[in-house]
Amino acid sequence: MCKAFIFDLDGVITDTAELHYQAWLKMSNEEGYYFDREINEQLRGVSRRASLNIILAGQAISDDKADELMTRKNGYYLQLLETLSPSDVLPGMHNLLLELNARGIKVALASASKNARPILHKLGLMPLFDAIGDGWSVARSKPAPDVFIHAAGQVGINVHDCIVVEDAEAGIEAAKAAGMQVVGIGPMQRIGAAHWCFADTCELNLAQILGERNAA
Ligand code: BG6
Ligand code: MG
Repeated sequence: MCKAFIFDLDGVITDTAELHYQAWLKMSNEEGYYFDREINEQLRGVSRRASLNIILAGQAISDDKADELMTRKNGYYLQLLETLSPSDVLPGMHNLLLELNARGIKVALASASKNARPILHKLGLMPLFDAIGDGWSVARSKPAPDVFIHAAGQVGINVHDCIVVEDAEAGIEAAKAAGMQVVGIGPMQRIGAAHWCFADTCELNLAQILGERNAA
């Protein structure tokens, strides 16, 4: 029985992939690293450090240099986030959160991002969440199941009673490893491993997911 919904943030609640792309691109151009939109797709759901490793493509750098590059990229990303507002919530998601709140189903976040809290504040969604799991909550990021297990614990719901909404392969793998059911958002080649698949957030159908009669 579904007692909690656990949401990924980037690509599910709001589309920050483009902002991550712009920020990594600026840093990469400054450093002479090759980076394009195809590589950016591989960063979906992946932690900041793992993202940098993908961009470095095997090139070895010191930990200090890596820290400096990540700090610089995050500075560019934070500048881009400044204009984020409630109008940047992806279609259908605000209503879905309201509906879950109204039904008494717990709502939690499980994001790889260390910027998740300020982003939810800017989107005006903080009051609709019962718990936040983010890049600060656990040591091992997706595809490890830790952030989902943490979020379920925060709302006091058994993992088997949680449904996750994810847009990334790494996130779907993590949620399944946590023993949860998963709703995938995006193209089938990316989210085909999910239990329910929707091309877009506006197509997500709660009644269908909950197995209710008369689901449109
Ligand atoms: C995930 C994004 O939500 O957060 C990744 O999908 C990103 O692309 C990761 O790398 C970490 O984000 P941040 O904000 O901590 O750099
Ligand atoms: Mg995501």
